[in-house]
Parts: sequence; C-alpha cells; structure tokens
Amino acid sequence: MSDFIFPQWTNRLKEIGGVLGAGGGLYAVVLVWLGFAPKTITVGYEPEQPIPYSHKLHVGELGIDCRYCHTTVDKAAFAAIPPTQTCMNCHDKIRTESELLKPLREAHAAGLPVEWRKVHDLPDYAYFNHSSHVNKGVGCAECHGRVDTMEVVGIVSELSMGWCLDCHRDPAPRLRPLDKITDLDWEPEEDRRELGERLMEEFDVHTQVSCSTCHR
Ligand code: HEC
Ligand code: HEC
Ligand code: HEC
Ligand code: HEC
Ligand code: HEC
Repeated sequence: MSDFIFPQWTNRLKEIGGVLGAGGGLYAVVLVWLGFAPKTITVGYEPEQPIPYSHKLHVGELGIDCRYCHTTVDKAAFAAIPPTQTCMNCHDKIRTESELLKPLREAHAAGLPVEWRKVHDLPDYAYFNHSSHVNKGVGCAECHGRVDTMEVVGIVSELSMGWCLDCHRDPAPRLRPLDKITDLDWEPEEDRRELGERLMEEFDVHTQVSCSTCHR
C-alpha cells in the first residue's frame, strides 16, 4: 500500500508546498509520518528457487568469487544475476546428468533465463546503487551477511531506512580495503575504527543523509 501512496503524496505535497511556500518542512513531516507504515521486506525471507543453487557449495567450498556471477556489482546500480551460460561454463562438463540441473539445461537449450525469484526488493521510491558502495569499501557481508554459508540466500539485514541511515551517519567502522569486498570472513588485523577512519580519507567517503540521496 505504501508503495502506491508514496509517489502520489510526494507529488501532491510538492504542489501544496509550492502554494503554501512551506514545502520543505511539511514535506519532511508527512514523509516521516508515512515512515511508520508497515514494512514489506522481512529479515529471514528465503524464497524457494527453481534450482537448488547453493552459495555455500559454490562460494564457501569451491571458492568462486561473487563477481564471477554478479558481474555488474562494482560497475552498476544493479547486481546482475548470471545468465545460464555462466552456469554451463562448468555444468556442461560437471553433473551433466543431474536431475537438479535439468531446469538449467532446458532453459539454456531454449535460450531462456532461469526464473530465479527475487529475494531483496526495495520499494521503487528508494534508490540504491551497488557500485557506489562496493567501490567505497562497503563489502557484501555488511548488507548480505555470510552468503558463503547459505544453502538458500535469505535477507539478513532490515533494509529499512533507519538501517541505511545508521551506516550513512557513521560508515567508518564498516569499511574495508577494496581487495576484501567479496572476502566475507575477512577480519581486520587492527582496530576497525582506526582503519575505517583512514579508509574514509583514502576513498574520499562522504555519505549523505539528505532525503534526496535515496528518494530521487
Ligand atoms: C556461480 C554463481 C554465483 C556466485 C559465485 C555467487 N552468486 Fe549470488 N546468486 C547466484 C544466483 C544464480 C542467484 C539467484 C538465485 C538465488 O537467489 O539463490 C544469486 C542470488 C544472490 C543474492 C540474492 C539476490 C536477490 O534476489 O535478492 C545475493 C544477495 C547474492 N547472490 C550474493 C552473493 C555474494 C555476496 C556472493 C559472493 C560471496 C555471490 N552471491 C556469489 C549466483 C552466484
Ligand atoms: C566453476 C564451476 C561451477 C559453476 C560456474 C557453477 N557450478 Fe554448480 N557445481 C559445481 C561443482 C563442482 C558442483 C559439485 C559437483 C559434485 O558434488 O560432484 C556443483 C553442483 C551444483 C548443483 C548440485 C547438483 C547435484 O546434482 O547435486 C547445482 C544444483 C548447481 N551446481 C547449480 C549451479 C548453477 C545454477 C550455477 C549457475 C548459477 C552453477 N551451478 C555454476 C561447479 C560449478
Ligand atoms: C550497502 C548494502 C549493500 C552492499 C554492500 C551490497 N548489497 Fe547487494 N543488495 C543490497 C540491497 C539494498 C539490495 C536490493 C536492491 C533493490 O531491490 O533495489 C541488494 C540486492 C542484491 C542482489 C539482487 C539484484 C539487485 O541488484 O537487486 C544481488 C545479486 C546482490 N545484492 C549481490 C551483492 C554482492 C555480490 C555484493 C558485494 C559485491 C553486494 N550485493 C553488496 C544491499 C547491498
Ligand atoms: C554499511 C554502510 C552502508 C549501508 C548499510 C548503506 N550505505 Fe549507502 N553509502 C555508504 C557509503 C560508504 C557510500 C559512499 C559515499 C560516498 O560516495 O562518498 C554510500 C552511498 C550511497 C548513495 C549515493 C550513491 C550515488 O551514486 O550517489 C546512495 C543513494 C545510498 N548510499 C543509498 C543507500 C540505501 C538506500 C541504503 C539502504 C538500503 C544504504 N545506502 C545503506 C554506506 C552505506
Ligand atoms: C540512505 C538512504 C535514505 C535516506 C537518506 C532517506 N531515506 Fe527514506 N527510505 C529509504 C529506504 C531504503 C526506504 C524503504 C524502507 C522500507 O521499505 O522499509 C525509505 C522509506 C521512506 C518512507 C516510506 C516508509 C514506508 O514504510 O513506506 C518515507 C516516508 C521516507 N523514506 C522518508 C524520508 C525522508 C523524509 C528522508 C529525509 C529526512 C529520507 N526518507 C531519507 C532510504 C532513505
């Protein structure tokens, strides 16, 4: 419901605000009030997938890097889900008779994508960008947890506005060197905040908390 109301209300409010000359304040008050609406995303959501693809096996045990499959994660807003060809690079030789992989072989032969079910899904009025985070030292594990231990990927972070803002207000202790972005079990050898303060300067990090950063 809130997905539906939000854009309309904002447009209305911009109009009203323009007329009253009190746009900013009223806009913010009503937006904050709407913020109490129920959440649609839930921690623990773990939809069953058409193929039981396991991150635990492929990442945790075989050691494949996230970017082998999620190729756009450091280049674009969206983290691409791999096409069937990426899987077939191995599965045209490995487990070629597996019943579990039948939907993969069929989709590949037909030139169709596997119909993976989306796990994370922010409302359209909230703007998120992977590359902006990944290239400034925010690792996958900060937001997605230990994906390398998951048979089925689920949501581990609240993904609420408050959760985004907590980090935007103080990102330093959650930054890591760029070569550790996909290294999920990385632990700093020194005090994390000290390292973080240094990385803030090195990567020139200036996180924003103004509404228009995420509501464009
Ligand atoms: C061999 C390919 C492959 C590798 C390597 C891989 N993934 Fe995935 N990932 C997938 C596929 C396929 C899906 C969609 C099916 C699913 O959700 O399990 C997916 C889904 C996800 C999702 C959920 C997407 C959504 O719909 O919200 C996250 C988060 C994710 N991967 C993170 C990672 C991280 C972090 C790594 C590295 C630690 C990684 N993946 C490595 C193939 C891969
Ligand atoms: C780098 C090679 C590689 C890639 C890429 C790869 N896999 Fe695998 N996959 C393996 C290996 C190795 C196994 C384990 C085979 C075994 O246990 O003997 C496996 C096992 C599986 C299994 C279990 C099969 C069974 O019968 O138990 C599934 C399902 C699977 N992979 C799906 C996928 C999907 C979907 C993708 C693409 C998103 C993918 N894999 C990409 C190497 C790969
Ligand atoms: C700052 C938090 C954050 C970080 C860091 C992050 N993600 Fe995400 N990820 C999200 C959010 C939020 C979504 C949902 C985006 C949406 O629905 O618009 C998401 C969605 C995804 C998806 C589903 C496709 C998509 O773009 O909606 C995949 C796959 C994924 N992330 C993989 C990764 C990988 C791999 C990394 C590390 C290289 C990573 N993420 C780092 C927060 C993060
Ligand atoms: C763990 C820390 C962390 C979390 C959690 C986080 N961010 Fe960020 N965010 C950052 C950092 C660091 C930057 C980079 C700031 C810079 O460019 O200097 C950033 C930048 C951004 C930008 C600017 C991107 C651009 O290209 O202009 C947007 C938009 C954004 N974040 C949205 C979100 C949203 C939405 C969420 C929650 C779903 C979120 N962030 C959660 C740390 C975080
Ligand atoms: C760092 C990113 C970020 C910033 C900055 C931000 N928001 Fe949000 N906001 C979000 C995200 C993400 C959601 C979606 C959360 C959800 O689905 O639970 C959201 C949701 C909302 C909602 C709807 C809540 C609901 O449950 O439907 C309102 C209203 C809102 N924001 C107002 C504001 C206002 C006002 C500001 C400025 C004071 C602001 N936001 C700044 C990320 C941000």
